[in-house]
Amino acid sequence: PRIYVITPTYARLVQKAELTRLSHTFLHVPQLHWIVVEDAPQQTQLVSDFLSASGLTYTHLNKLTPKERKLQEGDPNWLKPRGAEQRNEGLRWLRWMGSTVHGKEAAALEEAVVYFADDDNTYSLQLFEEMRYTYRVSVWPVGLVGGMKFERPVVEDGKVVRFHTGWRPNRPFPIDMAGFAVSLRLVLTNKEALFDGDAQMGFLESSFLQHLVTMDDLEPKADLCTKVLVWHTRTEKPKMKREEALLKQGMGSDPDVEV
Ligand code: UGA
Ligand code: MN
Repeated sequence: PRIYVITPTYARLVQKAELTRLSHTFLHVPQLHWIVVEDAPQQTQLVSDFLSASGLTYTHLNKLTPKERKLQEGDPNWLKPRGAEQRNEGLRWLRWMGSTVHGKEAAALEEAVVYFADDDNTYSLQLFEEMRYTYRVSVWPVGLVGGMKFERPVVEDGKVVRFHTGWRPNRPFPIDMAGFAVSLRLVLTNKEALFDGDAQMGFLESSFLQHLVTMDDLEPKADLCTKVLVWHTRTEKPKMKREEALLKQGMGSDPDVEV
């Protein structure tokens, strides 16, 4: 089965570095189709050029987060969810694509899986083989998230019975974006399933999954959720003190060099 990976991304100094790292992981994954959705009013040259040189099979989209939904400089990052509009745009594209294909190609889509991969996390190759066979929604642990070493679904007798998390374990699905994959069939047959950009902190994943499954339906992967195969890493914002100082003296780095 094919894996459709939806990645929201936005312009910042580390963007190309993040996308480079991610693409090098994906190049090792068979049958992966990368849906890159820029949080931007237009597709940028940087991302277009990057993707066309990447060697990956991809779809390049863009969807700007409306200003009132976007975090402002200095806002605490829990105030508003990030990447919601972009993931929804990816879902819209999948649904459109699903409606245009027939025969063998449509049959292939029935088996495919959808994963939401943020551009800054760290993904093991094994993770993709775990999710590849997903009937409805598969789940697994996520490392370095939620102020914990890891969060994970707790499995008893092969079923998810609760979640190991440090915060509001009674959320419908207390699970990070990196911790689940969904069958494309389910996405295509439940057109109302989208991410709620107004969801309160910690409820973004639930806002989508609630349309698709109950806890009882979850398919535990990664040795019954005992292995960490994805890490919620975050990249430090580069310091630009020297750059700014040089810029004032008219000696900033050449703006024609893409970083
Ligand atoms: C956590 C979760 O892991 C995310 O899946 C979730 O979307 C986010 O919280 C949230 O609260 O909304 P975190 O590391 O805090 O993740 O978020 P980021 O990695 O900064 O952003 C998630 C994704 O959205 C990234 O792929 C990022 O490139 C993208 N993004 C971020 C945008 O498209 N636009 C933005 O303005 C910011
Ligand atoms: Mn992140």
